[in-house]
Amino acid sequence: MKLKTKNLLTLGELSPKEFSGLIDESIKLKNELKKNGNKPILKNKTLTMIFQKPSTRTRVSFEIGMFQLGGHAVNLSSNDMQLSRGESIEDTAKTLSRYSDCIMARVYDHELLETLSQHASVPVINGLSDAFHPCQILADFMTIKEKKKKFKGLKIAWIGDGNNVCNSMIHGAALTGVHMSIATPKGFEPDKNTVTQAKKLTSVELTTDPLIASKNADVIVADTFSSIHNLDEERLKKFLPKYQVNDKLMKSAKKDAIFLHCLPAKREQEVTSSVIDGPQSVVWDEAENRLHTQKALLAALIHA
Ligand code: CP
Ligand code: NVA
Repeated sequence: MKLKTKNLLTLGELSPKEFSGLIDESIKLKNELKKNGNKPILKNKTLTMIFQKPSTRTRVSFEIGMFQLGGHAVNLSSNDMQLSRGESIEDTAKTLSRYSDCIMARVYDHELLETLSQHASVPVINGLSDAFHPCQILADFMTIKEKKKKFKGLKIAWIGDGNNVCNSMIHGAALTGVHMSIATPKGFEPDKNTVTQAKKLTSVELTTDPLIASKNADVIVADTFSSIHNLDEERLKKFLPKYQVNDKLMKSAKKDAIFLHCLPAKREQEVTSSVIDGPQSVVWDEAENRLHTQKALLAALIHA
């Protein structure tokens, strides 16, 4: 499948049909990989990856995903690039476009991605910015589809910080019509504009009470209270103990509710070990699905 958008900086760039199409394609690629291996649909294609922040899953899933589709990925830490000595993002975009068929970047400032994509002649993928993490949410909705077999009528409860992953999850909910209830402390709500836009397409509830959000939820989602761009231990006081996903909170959701976490997790902070390592947790499938969704996205953006 091909996408209308050149880049994927936020899920807001996709239509509902494209989003569901990417998820279905990811499930196909997963089955194909497990049967006979993937066909080399990205043979001789290349991806350059810029990381301003650390990563385990995003880096490995993009790199191995390219390899499994017959292509190649080059990993660049921004500290080792001329960017660190003042070369502009515009010149970096133009240069990398002459070498590779696609650029993936993990950055602090979301606007940097916008500048990068404006000056790159090849597609640019957001591998996480301070504002959004679209690739994570493709994997999350793939996992939800695998476990629940549908999106219609589901309720997702987001508990904790209204952060970059939460913002992208709101996009995902809007694209699928899933109801979302978000419990955050005052002052830690998700992006206002994202919520306003999503409310035109689905119901998005904001609350400060985790038990309101989790009531009758099919999916409970947690993420760190202290993202890479917000490394401040003082923040924890605002979240603990109220916003921790523990057995009591899981019990207030539906009996067959699943637990998602993009990882890395801080056990006994945003989630207890009993939940993340318990029977309702699907976090390892979720992490694996990064690989399959990455591949579907790369195949859809990189054209012959
Ligand atoms: N979930 C996620 O993006 O993980 P990494 O930070 O390890 O890439
Ligand atoms: N919200 C976290 C997600 C890490 C994958 C962060 O931005 O650090």
